[in-house]
Amino acid sequence: MDQTVQKVTNGLQGTITIPGDKSISHRAVMFGAIANGTTTVEGFLPGEDCLSTISCFQKLGVSIQQNDDKVTIEGKGYAGLKEPVDILDVGNSGTTTRLMLGILATLPFHCVVIGDSSIAKRPMSRVTNPLREMGAKIDGRDNGNLTPLSIRGGGTKAIQFESKVASAQVKSCILLAGLQSEGETVVSEPHVSRDHTERMLRAFGVDVKQNGRTTSVQGGQQLTGGHIVVPGDISSAAFMLVAGAIVPNSSITLLNVGVNPTRTGIIDVLQQMGANLVIENERTINDEPVADLTISTSSLKGIEISGDIIPRLIDEIPVIALLATQAEGKTVIKDAEELKVKETNRIDTVVSELLKLGASIEATDDGMIIYGKSDLTGSTVKSYGDHRIGMTMAIAGCIATGTVTVQESEAIAVSYPNFFTQLQSLQK
Ligand code: S3P
Repeated sequence: MDQTVQKVTNGLQGTITIPGDKSISHRAVMFGAIANGTTTVEGFLPGEDCLSTISCFQKLGVSIQQNDDKVTIEGKGYAGLKEPVDILDVGNSGTTTRLMLGILATLPFHCVVIGDSSIAKRPMSRVTNPLREMGAKIDGRDNGNLTPLSIRGGGTKAIQFESKVASAQVKSCILLAGLQSEGETVVSEPHVSRDHTERMLRAFGVDVKQNGRTTSVQGGQQLTGGHIVVPGDISSAAFMLVAGAIVPNSSITLLNVGVNPTRTGIIDVLQQMGANLVIENERTINDEPVADLTISTSSLKGIEISGDIIPRLIDEIPVIALLATQAEGKTVIKDAEELKVKETNRIDTVVSELLKLGASIEATDDGMIIYGKSDLTGSTVKSYGDHRIGMTMAIAGCIATGTVTVQESEAIAVSYPNFFTQLQSLQK
């Protein structure tokens, strides 16, 4: 589906409530499914990725009711999960695939996991290899690296695993497998990745130990269902933050944004670039920090983004690249090879689509270099089926002269189903 976006002439103004966090919504459903007792979720993100998680766990025999942002999961513990008669279709969702494999690895039955054409290209050996080491039987294309994957779990043993990549999906997968394995499972990573799994497991009564880049759980722990309130997704807010900073005459307030420190790289970048950003009403919900953010049109300068901050903003790099086109001077993004294995190769897709609008941007081996400030010109661009590329291009359309046509814009529903409605509501 094509979506056209016109240059915004009168600025963006107003207040919106950012929809639920995708990472936290997935976890609420999965942990509720393996817990004993009922879990109720409020603020759930009804995006396609999280609906894929619900559908997979329903196929595993768990009773789950979802109505917009409310979900009820009738957990009956691990014993409540049954061998599915059908394949488990994860759609476009890497988080569903990798976290669910951690759970399936411990269950004594057979499952087949399949996804869309993007999932079929994404590397799974980063989780299937350690899960095999723990004792799960896994096969699939490319020796178990690519979907479709078949898995027969059960009888797993704890592992001491040193991940080569800073990935919350890998860390969470192994910790989830560790919960039902004999002994203590320890995962270490090169940089700290998002810690929603650790925080939420504690809310479900699990003892999780964290020490710097190392996290561990003891096997044999049971989860107890409860009530989860999901904060707004800072990765969705990022598009509106960038829009507010780069569209002239703008001032917008985003309510209910999750500001977990493992996710706030975008806030650090905006502040370092000199954006007019105000953080207010900081509070904690379910052990997750939340705040309201107000951003207004800003004079920005280019910066270097590398090292420890990368996992804290990995999903925001496409829209940060757009932000950098409107900053004076050079922005260098390094140490971000992981971009190559996201929903698309985001180094290639960001660079190719921003070039079509007249940006001065070049790809590097581990990131990109952007020279600002440049005027963007309307053109036809593609999401390549990647929600974050689609939204980045739509925000670019707010400042480009003429019209930006975003092809395959339906991909945006994966993480931000009301994106265009909210963007429209800020235009007077
Ligand atoms: C996620 C972790 C990140 C992120 C993804 C969601 C999660 O992936 O890019 O959108 O919910 O754990 P990696 O763990 O592969 O870095």
